This record gives sequence, structure tokens and C-alpha cells, in this order.
Amino acid sequence: MNKFFPDRLSLWIGPLGTAVVAVAVVAVVVLVSGIINLAASIPHPEGWANILHYGMKRAVAFHAGDLKEPDDFDADWRVAQGAAHYGHVCVSCHGAPELGQNAVVLKMRPRPQYLVESVDQLSNKELAWIVLHGVKYTAMPAWTDADREDEAWSMAAFLRKLPEMDYATYRDLAYGQGRSITKKLDVEFGDHFPDTRSPAAKRAEYRSSTPASGFLEFAMQDTLLPMCGRCHGEDGTGRGIGAFPNLSMQNEQYLKKSLEAYASGERHSGFMRPVATQLSQPQIEALAKYYASQPDVRAPGADKLDPALVEKGRQIAQDGVPSRNVAACLSCHEQTQFTSRVFPNLSGQYATYTENQLKLFAKNDRGNVGDYNPMDELSHALTDEEMKAVSAYFQSVEPGELVQEKAQ
Ligand code: HEC
Ligand code: HEC
Ligand code: HEC
Repeated sequence: MNKFFPDRLSLWIGPLGTAVVAVAVVAVVVLVSGIINLAASIPHPEGWANILHYGMKRAVAFHAGDLKEPDDFDADWRVAQGAAHYGHVCVSCHGAPELGQNAVVLKMRPRPQYLVESVDQLSNKELAWIVLHGVKYTAMPAWTDADREDEAWSMAAFLRKLPEMDYATYRDLAYGQGRSITKKLDVEFGDHFPDTRSPAAKRAEYRSSTPASGFLEFAMQDTLLPMCGRCHGEDGTGRGIGAFPNLSMQNEQYLKKSLEAYASGERHSGFMRPVATQLSQPQIEALAKYYASQPDVRAPGADKLDPALVEKGRQIAQDGVPSRNVAACLSCHEQTQFTSRVFPNLSGQYATYTENQLKLFAKNDRGNVGDYNPMDELSHALTDEEMKAVSAYFQSVEPGELVQEKAQ
């Protein structure tokens, strides 16, 4: 009997194999010939764009389950932090309330969504996941510092509020007082922050900062202080919201090393890395000098701290936690005796910022500024409550107060 379909399984192998090889040959010919037109000038057919976007949303929904929403997701400081970064990086593709999107990105395929109108379709977790991981084949970038999930949550907190924001609210949140800063630093662009990586490492990945990664090439345009001031304020006090660290009370050496460490990637932050990688070495030095020379101001809000918490924190700062071998914070910080090492000042810093840094150290996610970092190990030994207490204590102290006590 002459059947078209063979009835024994083993007889299928030959014809199936031939079919697979034929398909592969056609695929290679199509690929090599270049016959498929990838022009972005031709929009995706309607149905195809929908299928792709549906697939992307299903993948995000599937993977986002692993993230854990922080308890303070709605906090104002998170929204302010997210807004400032959005205004620096994301706005160029996704547009802003009442402003719409840039004409250039409307020609991207796929087209970045106008998030003001589309974020309602995504859950908090899905937003944080997209921010953290980006989306392949779309130009939606992943977060520069993959271990800063906390920063992705701040972005999500802002995106959640975006649909209800009008232009003026968005502008004030994202640009702060940056718009009114006219002060300029007298500094030449000079040499770029030196790239110390091996030639092989340089070849493997283009250096993010040469040429400047500039979404807004502020470093080239002499708009340094308006840029930093958007988040940290012209005086370095961080706009009073706890979203941005107080730089006014920080020492010059630590400010300089922090900017270098963000630029080289040794200290991790998706907010500061895109900023720091655009700076040249003379600009880093001039900015460190500028903020260090501002009057040392304690972060506002110290009067609202819980006195019992502050007192508990004072004990940890002065005595450490002997039962768990945690050294007294003041044996290193606010000291002048270890001149060869760089210790950040903590007095007058926002409690939210200090607490967050301690949590990052405890997860080994913070990265280093100097070549000596005992903080990872030390923070592992602190409980969440102790981190909160000691952070509150340091916000309650006037900058320099403890250093003077020592000197007496
Ligand atoms: C270079 C352009 C570009 C930049 C910069 C960019 N995105 Fe995107 N983004 C895209 C594109 C393109 C998509 C579309 C993905 C798709 O349709 O599958 C996207 C998708 C998204 C989505 C999903 C929207 C939806 O409705 O499905 C979110 C949320 C998002 N981006 C947030 C951000 C945030 C926050 C930033 C800044 C940290 C940012 N993006 C920066 C290009 C960009
Ligand atoms: C979009 C907002 C934003 C902009 C713009 C910005 N910063 Fe920051 N900056 C932050 C945030 C958020 C942090 C905390 C990051 C972290 O968790 O490590 C920070 C941290 C820092 C630190 C470390 C402080 C410490 O106590 O360790 C320095 C120094 C700093 N910024 C300097 C600058 C300078 C100088 C500029 C301008 C060239 C600038 N920043 C622009 C948001 C910003
Ligand atoms: C043995 C010395 C030492 C002790 C003790 C110590 N620190 Fe530190 N701390 C450092 C050094 C060094 C750094 C800078 C690390 C780096 O970034 O590379 C630092 C950094 C920090 C930072 C980051 C500051 C910023 O602006 O980003 C915080 C917050 C901090 N310490 C809090 C504490 C607290 C709270 C205690 C007490 C529980 C403490 N430290 C005890 C040496 C110490």
C-alpha cells in the first residue's frame, strides 16, 4: 500500500529532518540577503505591534512577582527622587504631563509609550521590574546599577503618581529650584575623569562617559550647578525632603571620592551614575570644593524626630552594640584623628538617607567610596530598629558638634 504518511515513527525522522534543514537554509538565505526591511520609517503593522506589546506585558507580569514592594512605597521622598531622575533621563523618550513627547522618539519602533496615559495598565511591581530590567529589543534601558532595587521602587512610586500630575506640579518636583540657579563654577572642562580599566575591559564595553552619555549634556554646557541643584539644592541641603543627601555638611575629600566612585561604578546608584559619568576630573574637584565650602546646615525636620529613638541611637553611636561586636560609630565618624582615611560626616544628615545606606551596606549593595570599608560587616550586625535609631540620632546632631566636643 502506498501511503503518503508513513505509519512507523522511525520513518518520520527522514522527512522531518529534511524539512528542518530546508527551513534553516531559507532562514539563513533571508538573513544574509538582507531582504527584510528593518526601516523604522515604516510603522509596525497594527496587529504585529499589539502582539509584540502583549508578549512584553505577559513576560513582565510573569517575572515581576519576585520583587517585594517596600512598606513606604507612597512616601513623598520616593516620589521626589523618582521625579528628578525622570526629568533627567526618562522624559526624553516618554514625555511629560501636558508636554507630550519629543518628535524624534515618535519615530522609534516600538514607540516609547506616553507614560502619563499608559502607566495605569501596570501594577507597582510591574513598573519597578521594567525600570530595573528594561525591555530587550525595544531600546527601553535597564537600570545602570542592577543591585539598587530600592531606586527602581522610587521610580515606580513616581510613575504611579504621574497620571494625576499637572505640568506645574511635575516641573516643581522634577526640577526643584534648579531652574532659578544662575551661579556658575569657574572651571574648564579639562581632562575626562581618568579611565583606569584594562584595555580588554575597555574594548568589551564602551566607556559610558566618553563621549558624555549626556541625555542633557549639562557638563559640557556649564550648567553644572543648576543640574546638581535640582536635587541637592544650590546650598547642598537637599531641598528639605529627605530624598537627596545633605552635601553641605560633608567634607571635600569624601565628596570628591564619592563622585569618582559613582563615575567608575565602584559606588552603586542609578541616580548618581548617569550624572557623575558626565563630569571631567576638574569639574569633580570644583564641585566637591563648592559643596564643602557651603555653610554646614543640619537637614531640616530634626525637631520632628522621636526623642526616644534619638536617645537609643545616641547610645549606639557612642557605645556601639557590644553584645554583637558593633563598634561605636563615633570611634571612626566625626573624628579627626585618622587623617589618612576618608570618613564621611554623618551629623546633620537626613535620617532617611543614612538608614537607606545602612540597609544597602547590610546587603553588600552599596559599593565603596574609599579603599577601606568596614561598613558592610558592621551593618550586617545591626537590626532594622537600630539602623532607624542611629540614623535619627545623627540627623538630630548639628554638623560639627561632636567633632568640637572631642577637641575640647
Ligand atoms: C531611549 C528611550 C527610552 C528611555 C531613555 C526610557 N525608556 Fe522606557 N521604554 C522605551 C520603549 C521603546 C518602551 C516600549 C517597550 C514596548 O513597547 O514593548 C519603553 C517602555 C517603558 C515602560 C512600559 C510602558 C508600557 O505601557 O508598557 C515603562 C514603565 C518605562 N518604559 C519606564 C521608563 C523609565 C522610568 C525610564 C527612565 C528611567 C525610561 N523608561 C527610559 C524607551 C525608553
Ligand atoms: C536626579 C537627582 C540628582 C542629581 C541631578 C544629582 N544628584 Fe547627587 N545624589 C542623588 C541621590 C538620590 C543620591 C544618593 C545616592 C545613593 O544612594 O548612593 C546622591 C548622592 C550624591 C553624593 C554622595 C553623598 C554622600 O553623602 O555620600 C554626592 C557627593 C553627590 N550626590 C553630588 C552630586 C553633584 C555634584 C551633582 C551635580 C553634578 C549631583 N549630585 C546631581 C541625586 C542627584
Ligand atoms: C571602623 C570605622 C567605622 C565605624 C566603627 C563606623 N563606620 Fe561608618 N563608615 C566608615 C567608613 C570608612 C565609611 C566610608 C566607606 C566607603 O564608602 O567606602 C563609612 C561610611 C558610612 C556611611 C555612608 C555615609 C554616606 O554619606 O554615604 C554611613 C551612613 C555610616 N558609615 C554609618 C555608620 C554608623 C551608623 C556606624 C555605627 C553603627 C558606623 N558607620 C560605624 C567607617 C566606620
